[in-house]
Amino acid sequence: MIRRRIMTARSVYPQHSAVEDGRLTIGGCDAAELAREFGTPAYVYAEDDLRARAREFKAALAAAHPGAGDVVFASKACPVTAVLRVFAEEGLAVDCASGGELHLALRAGFDPERVYLHGNAKSEAELQMAVDAGVGHVVLDGPDPDRLERIVPPGRRQRALVRVTPGVHTDTHEAIMTGHAESKFGYPPPTAAAIAHRDWERIDVAGLHVHLGSQIFDRSPFRAALGTLAGLGDFPVYNLGGGMAVAYTRHDDPPDPHEWVAALIEIAHELLGRDKTYVIEPGRALVANAGVTLYGVEDVKRIGGTEHAGLSFVAVNGGMSDNMRPMLYGAVYEAEIADRVGDGQPYSVVGKHCESGDVLIRAAALRDPHAGDVLVTPVTGAYGFSMANNYNGLPRPPVIFVSGGDAQVVVRRETYDDLVARHS
Ligand code: LLP
Repeated sequence: MIRRRIMTARSVYPQHSAVEDGRLTIGGCDAAELAREFGTPAYVYAEDDLRARAREFKAALAAAHPGAGDVVFASKACPVTAVLRVFAEEGLAVDCASGGELHLALRAGFDPERVYLHGNAKSEAELQMAVDAGVGHVVLDGPDPDRLERIVPPGRRQRALVRVTPGVHTDTHEAIMTGHAESKFGYPPPTAAAIAHRDWERIDVAGLHVHLGSQIFDRSPFRAALGTLAGLGDFPVYNLGGGMAVAYTRHDDPPDPHEWVAALIEIAHELLGRDKTYVIEPGRALVANAGVTLYGVEDVKRIGGTEHAGLSFVAVNGGMSDNMRPMLYGAVYEAEIADRVGDGQPYSVVGKHCESGDVLIRAAALRDPHAGDVLVTPVTGAYGFSMANNYNGLPRPPVIFVSGGDAQVVVRRETYDDLVARHS
């Protein structure tokens, strides 16, 4: 038997994934067997890969910046309790964008001191919850400062960062760009400076926060952004946000975490100084490539002959309810048949939803797909689970952890009863 590792460090599948006789294994588990055991669709995460990525970011920051620093997991990318628990164990801090994400992080065992509460429209109730829990940092936006002055009990001070909108464009989809001047996030630089320098009674402004956007390849916008931050004063803490691009297909060439962090820190050292605490806030880059989705193929439909790319459909038992990204951002994915890995003919992989736009992949090279096959899409570990929905009454998929040949359910599949549980 020839054991062929298809995954190198830069490939799109979780580390230690392999193909043996055309069969894909992840975390030592045969993907088609996982589908049989746990059903489809299902999100599968390689736990070792999550841990390795957390360690890689920590090592990258420690190597680039010998001073104080922190790696924060942007939990919106994958708000799964088991994933949060892994990152808490690995010593990461956590970014929560709402009361709900805060609840999840606390339930997963994060020390409240390790929480950064984000949001451009936090409610008073969410701020109250954060203050009661004792979160380490609130990242100020909108009306937060005045509200915190009222909410924080006398004699206490809430540590905070001020979110700056530096007015910088990035090479990404406009829906996930956040640092441009027209962004709804953060304060324009003069306002941010005024808030940061004001003598608040119950807020202790430790520094500034900036997040330029998501799935960014180019580091040059950071130079412009940190240049703007440098003009706002001298602070002990700078949170540089997340945004590092990942590879969705084998043709993408994203930076690796060491390169990325080193480049950012080099710019920060030059423009902001070495004696600072630097915080980075990756979401996608910690989880995207650690996860895949397993689907069941329900139908293979050929229209106008198989030689026409896009005119042969592979219809799967999920779609835009478990992966919104192709529809929202035109995101491009690859796929394989789990027990017949290898190049084949181009097929359009479509979901089962009542919309023609429910297309997961426009042209996936699949080897002889048939109804009953298991189809795998890699790189669905970020923003798949978190943006899943019940369109057309589809129960949301389970989350399965795999490691060393063992598999366990960490989020169960929704049931039809769950669909009516909140209804009168
Ligand atoms: N920090 C803040 C304040 C953020 O708003 C985000 C993402 C991150 C960090 C993490 O960014 P990342 O490292 O994951 O790029 N649903 C979209 C992504 C939205 C990102 C929102 N904010 C997608 O599926 O591409």
